[in-house]
Amino acid sequence: MDEAIGHYPADKKRSAALPLLHLWQEHFDFINDEAVTWIATKLGLQPINILELVTFYPMLREKRAGKTHIRVCRTLSCAMAGGYQVMENLCAATGIQRKTDPAGAGHTPISMSPDGNYSIEFVECLASCGTAPVCMINDELRQNVDPSSVVDLIVNRESRIVNRPEPHPLEHRIIFKNIGRKNWKTDIKTYLDDGGYEDLRKAVKMSRVDIVNEVKTSGLRGRGGAGFPCGVKWSFIKPDEKKPVYLICNADESEPGTFKDRYIIHEDPHQLLEGIAISCFALNARTAYTYIRGEFPEGAKILEGAIEEAREHNFLGKNILGSGFDVDVYIHRGAGAYICGEETGLIESLEGKRAYPRIKPPYFPAVLGLYMCPTIVNNVETLCAVKHIIAMGGAKYAQLGRSNNTGTRIVCVSGDVERPGYFEIEVGKVTMGQLIYQMAGGLKWGRQLKAVIPGGSSAKVLRADERFKIKQKQLDGATIEVEMSIDELPMDFDSLAAAGSMAGSGGVIVLDDSRDMVWALNNINEFYAHESCGQCTPCREGALWMKKITERMLNGGGVTEDPPTLKTIGDNIAGRTICAFGEACAWPTQSFVEKFPEEFAAHARKSFPPPLPPECTPEELTEREQIPTSPLAHDPGWEKAGADAVI
Ligand SMILES: Cc1cc2nc3c(=O)[nH]c(=O)nc-3n(C[C@H](O)[C@H](O)[C@H](O)COP(=O)(O)O)c2cc1C
Ligand code: SF4
Ligand code: FES
Repeated sequence: MDEAIGHYPADKKRSAALPLLHLWQEHFDFINDEAVTWIATKLGLQPINILELVTFYPMLREKRAGKTHIRVCRTLSCAMAGGYQVMENLCAATGIQRKTDPAGAGHTPISMSPDGNYSIEFVECLASCGTAPVCMINDELRQNVDPSSVVDLIVNRESRIVNRPEPHPLEHRIIFKNIGRKNWKTDIKTYLDDGGYEDLRKAVKMSRVDIVNEVKTSGLRGRGGAGFPCGVKWSFIKPDEKKPVYLICNADESEPGTFKDRYIIHEDPHQLLEGIAISCFALNARTAYTYIRGEFPEGAKILEGAIEEAREHNFLGKNILGSGFDVDVYIHRGAGAYICGEETGLIESLEGKRAYPRIKPPYFPAVLGLYMCPTIVNNVETLCAVKHIIAMGGAKYAQLGRSNNTGTRIVCVSGDVERPGYFEIEVGKVTMGQLIYQMAGGLKWGRQLKAVIPGGSSAKVLRADERFKIKQKQLDGATIEVEMSIDELPMDFDSLAAAGSMAGSGGVIVLDDSRDMVWALNNINEFYAHESCGQCTPCREGALWMKKITERMLNGGGVTEDPPTLKTIGDNIAGRTICAFGEACAWPTQSFVEKFPEEFAAHARKSFPPPLPPECTPEELTEREQIPTSPLAHDPGWEKAGADAVI
């Protein structure tokens, strides 16, 4: 415990709250009152500071679990591949009577088998959507689970990452060069034999400004979701900054449909550490934290081992490679909340609090980040790309991909395709059609494409028969507008934005013509209703309303007003919240309802709202969320609240 506390500045012991809670739970299986008071005293906090974490982070539990605890993923790609059958069959095999909510699906407290040997719960996306359906047996991930042979799953104790055999000819592998490579191991010797840490050697001989300029020249855009230019972000850090500067590697990888960072962490941890060390040197950041989601316990161990090895070889630690620069990298585990991926929520979580995102401005991390110090938050893949930019030079990197969409990126394909998986492509050099039909093997036999969610579940859905008008730059510099089909869409930031969606985190979820779009949206809505941090009323209430409405539509209770009501709830969330989760949860609903009106109308046939059962007790009424049954008046929003924006 003292070692864990030592990872944080002496006056910031609160940051150790989650690590201590993890250690306690690993040892005693659950967090009781004694744990709360003990940890609070140890960190000089009030018990409420610890209890509020236990009630916020889904992986922390206040009751004992079974000897074997099973977490079954219920998010879209897994649900499409049979995740709900996995749950049902596991319950039958272990004798668990699962508690269900009135609608019969989704999140409920952990259910136990009568003998206490097994417990089970649904969890959200485990970042392995390409090998769906998946579940975790204790700390081990099980992939490609066959719903009909779950007994085998409990007995067979193998947890290996499933790799694609060979890169596809349309791939251009740089970051994923070693992933799935024969005889490739994660130890430092293998990495060094392959030329590892040479780019760090090169970087520490460069000036900091030169490194930042190389990254700027490369045009690298962040791979975590927003696509913000990395070099521009880095240049917000003043070269003569007096406060400590922090680098945070965002390894939360929790956007449904995304499963690339997991492979880097598990299979090529030194590549990531080299990227982190170079970035720290460039930013003069002497401490870096890798915030890794709680559901990657194996990944956290692998990274911790790699950090030890890197320290032994003086790639981390004091005076690295004789440069006079000291840098330490620490692993900080989350505990199962999607909002920890949002950079300011992540920072709050790293400070030992609930992951409540901060309002921007003023809390832009580069200005007021971790411990109110300048902080750069970058995604795992972005930091790996930095290493390759140093290797090849920014200008050469910028020649990969397309203008304003440079380099390579890893796209993750899941859902209704023959060969789901990861593909590293030159950004924009592969079209959606090539990705789906050539690289991912096309749709299942006899099926047609219905829709694609191109950048993680937050991205607006694209309909297969849409036509898109995309502005394209010609060689002579002129811009022309080209009309194209979904198959012709280049897989890059600007084209997908022009098509009305986004490249986001690179998670492409494919839906074929067997899918009910209300069912798919309901699955997504359940995710957002569960993951809203609850700070903002439009997001907290709206996400729940949207889920309740799609759930009711699925259960045969849809009323004709439901589609416009859904749309107006979405309209009243987006743009009115503290963080971009508001958009992330509104966009799926807004786009599904708009693009598939016939399916939503078919589920919304009743002409009047269902009455509340008259026998409801007052307690039941307060427990039952109220669902609006007619469109809400459109709130003009803060930005229109008055000439001076004073509300
Ligand atoms: C709700 C929400 C969830 C997010 N989840 C992740 C995540 O899991 N991983 C990630 O790298 N970025 C995530 N982001 C984006 C981060 O806030 C941040 O922009 C990113 O880590 C910056 O890194 P980059 O510039 O390298 O992309 C999320 C953003 C939002 C709004
Ligand atoms: S938008 Fe949602 S997730 Fe973001 S701060 Fe508000 S309530 Fe929390
Ligand atoms: S791992 Fe199940 S949906 Fe992502």
